[in-house]
Amino acid sequence: MSPTSAPRHGRAPGAWPLLGHLPHLATRPLAFLDSLPGHGDVVRVRMGARTAHVVTHPALVRRVLTDRSSFDRSGILYEKVRALLGNGLATCPNAEHRDQRRVLRPAFRPALMERYADVMTAETEALTARWRPGAVVDVTEEAFRLTTAVAVRTLFSAGIAPRAAEELREALEVLLRGVYTRVVAPAVDRVPSPDRRRYRRALARWRTGVAAIIAAYRASGTDHGDALSLLLAVRDERGRALSDAALGDQVATLVLAGAETTSSVLAWALRLLADHPEAAARLHEELDTALSGGPVTRADLPRLPYTGDVVREALRLYPPAWAITRTVTRATELAGRTLPPGSIVICCLYLLHRRRELFPDPARFDPGRWAAGDVPRDAWLPFGLGATRCVGEAFGTVEATLALAAIASRWRLTPVSPRPPRPVPRLVLSPGPQPMRLTER
Ligand code: HEM
Repeated sequence: MSPTSAPRHGRAPGAWPLLGHLPHLATRPLAFLDSLPGHGDVVRVRMGARTAHVVTHPALVRRVLTDRSSFDRSGILYEKVRALLGNGLATCPNAEHRDQRRVLRPAFRPALMERYADVMTAETEALTARWRPGAVVDVTEEAFRLTTAVAVRTLFSAGIAPRAAEELREALEVLLRGVYTRVVAPAVDRVPSPDRRRYRRALARWRTGVAAIIAAYRASGTDHGDALSLLLAVRDERGRALSDAALGDQVATLVLAGAETTSSVLAWALRLLADHPEAAARLHEELDTALSGGPVTRADLPRLPYTGDVVREALRLYPPAWAITRTVTRATELAGRTLPPGSIVICCLYLLHRRRELFPDPARFDPGRWAAGDVPRDAWLPFGLGATRCVGEAFGTVEATLALAAIASRWRLTPVSPRPPRPVPRLVLSPGPQPMRLTER
């Protein structure tokens, strides 16, 4: 089988009656996923009563992500996320997408990146200032704390008191963690429990906090040049502004799309470096030569090519958006088979990035492959493709690279347990809890 030959359709073996492949996905998700390309380039997998077609062939991934007349961001997953967090750029169906994208795009223009990067530098400094030599921190949690703080401060809380921004960040953390559980097991909200209370409290705090920020923005009339300022200025064809609820939805989905993706790649990069001393040594050498000892800023990045390659390689091995889902909207042919409308198609970037026909020794963490030119760029798609390609690509890349450089220049992180991490494929492919001991370099 080769991605350049005609793609094959196949079926995953081992389906259970009624449950299909859900038991495999629950107990050994990555081993199950890893087995799929052996059965074809598009593989049918049963999830309970539903069938999904998992696509790992580069040309077909490209087709699904760019052919918007046949594939849409509709279906059960998006409906549930929209019900929980609202209808924003990252979750809206094709019909509303163009207008929403036009509104938000300017919030990510290069001129603003300078300001965002200053916040990233300051927040990374604030995070690591709390670290003590010998202490153990959960790197996954710490990375998430960093990216939610950066999202709140850059996208919609300019000029807001730090305490209010921190409260909002705390609420957001509970919400984003809770969304996945509620998407896969909505029943958790039917029974009273401490988790349900925590989630509901966070939701209420989030709504009150965002409403207060919106009111403060409206009252000040200042254009902060961030996502919320842009959204406040939007008018529809009848001259009406977005409601507070619609503004809150946009902000929530923006943060949903950006915070855990970026924190996950940072946590993976730190873990991969801890497990690969030769790559860590090369990184340290680059950081020691290029940095002057002060806070790491965006101006340092051009002198840190290997650090950038570590982030790119972590994105290859563990793409946070590991599975991009689409629903077929009209009968369409894929790998010689016609899929009826309503079929679920999953572009599995995790498997695409590990195809051995495309990447030499694909499971090996080797940041050096980037400088060696051993990466087919059209098969490395951690930010997706086409009209819905990630709007925060530069934001997420700069944030992960700055944070990695700042952390690795001062700290050595050693996993408390030598056991390999057990990746958790949820909305984002997270490394799960990563307790690591801190040593000053
Ligand atoms: C390393 C970090 C990131 C990764 C790997 C990532 C990945 C992706 C991918 C694969 C998509 C396409 C989804 C699809 O086609 O359905 C996407 C879309 C999106 N991302 Fe990111 N993302 C990252 C960071 C960010 C950040 C930091 C933000 C915002 C601050 C962000 C905001 C968005 C939004 C709003 C969309 C929807 C775009 C649209 O539909 O037009 N992302 N992201």
